[in-house]
Amino acid sequence: MNIIEIINKKRLNDVLSKEEINYVINSFIKDEIKDYQMSALLMAITINGMNFDETLFLTDAMLKSGDRLDFSGIDGLIVDKHSTGGIGDKVTLILAPLLASLNIKVAKMSGRSLGYTGGTIDKLESIKNFNVNLSNTDFMNQVNEINLAIASPSSNLDIADKKIYALRDVTATVSSIPLIASSIMSKKLASNADFIVIDIKIGAGALIKTKKEAIKLAHVLINIGKHYQKNVSCILTNMNQPLGYAIGNGLEIKESIDALNGNGAKDLMEVVYSIASIIISKAKNIDLKSAFNEAYQSIQNKKAYNKFLEFVARQNGDIKNIEVANDIEAVISDETGYIIGIDADKIGKLVLELGALRLNSDDIIDHSVGIVLSKKVGDFVTKGEVLGRIYKNKKSIDLNDFKECFTFDKTYNNKDKTIYGMIEDVK
Ligand code: URA
Repeated sequence: MNIIEIINKKRLNDVLSKEEINYVINSFIKDEIKDYQMSALLMAITINGMNFDETLFLTDAMLKSGDRLDFSGIDGLIVDKHSTGGIGDKVTLILAPLLASLNIKVAKMSGRSLGYTGGTIDKLESIKNFNVNLSNTDFMNQVNEINLAIASPSSNLDIADKKIYALRDVTATVSSIPLIASSIMSKKLASNADFIVIDIKIGAGALIKTKKEAIKLAHVLINIGKHYQKNVSCILTNMNQPLGYAIGNGLEIKESIDALNGNGAKDLMEVVYSIASIIISKAKNIDLKSAFNEAYQSIQNKKAYNKFLEFVARQNGDIKNIEVANDIEAVISDETGYIIGIDADKIGKLVLELGALRLNSDDIIDHSVGIVLSKKVGDFVTKGEVLGRIYKNKKSIDLNDFKECFTFDKTYNNKDKTIYGMIEDVK
């Protein structure tokens, strides 16, 4: 087989065979196909797409490129959740202990930040001594004993995705539905949960810009899941402004603790409760409303918060020691009016400039820095009021760049929702 012929075939919008796709992935992970050849193929896929069978073959080849976790030592149904990536997305930090507090087993491998979106592992590492590297045995024991473990996957999991994602990030080939679907599903299948919810973020601060694209992606994800007898549900959520108020690692841990104590931002808790309701209703075979009530009670009676404390202590974290910068600058509004937009993408770039996120996988990040918004879309602001606070350490940003993230108007009548819908099954 010849990579040049395969690239040319995709360039001409032909369908690739299973053998050709296996050859590409196997040769690429052995460096027999070069980065520049893979980049050309990724661009041809981004432009011409892939049909469902090609996407499935690609997922399967990627899945087989690395280890598959063996969770047979965990008793009962295991759930997992994945987000396509958003600014201020700290849902896992609240959702996972909430589910665990209701006796649902969460065995989660999470990622680090890359580009403008954060990663759960970086957030957890802003808690002093928190250990994200658990052996498979420790991981399974922990899930069996306290229903929850979150760790960083070993470097042997989904080797192809790591190599391909790094190329996609620098070749403008991230926003391709077959590439996103194969990347997510190969990782989720390798992590071997029984039931998976994927939060597809839509909007300015997300990979997916329209509901139409999100629905298309959801159908592909669910159908790949079906092929492997995995129950996949997708939830479509708004990423036109950051989720909640804090963006930055330690700051997001603090906001999650507030949320677990019943003081969560409205949009953040809507996403948490929606995903929790789907998972609880499946795991306990109850209707969505009863599932929501269980989730709500777990926050109200602090069971979820106590589970979070137990989980942090079990992974050696010192909850009293969360990295947060003490050089704080308040940014004052020059305008009076309703906020009709907060550009999540630009906020992500500013947080990256402050040092909280990484552009390259080997960049060292600063867990303590970030931004805490004081206002959200729909709030009325008077000139002189605080729009947000910048938490900085070694690097700073131009405060005008932060002000420019906000769009004002005299009125606000936007009915934009936080949750656009849920897609569970596809015929
Ligand atoms: N999340 C992933 O894991 N992969 C993608 O390609 C996009 C979002």
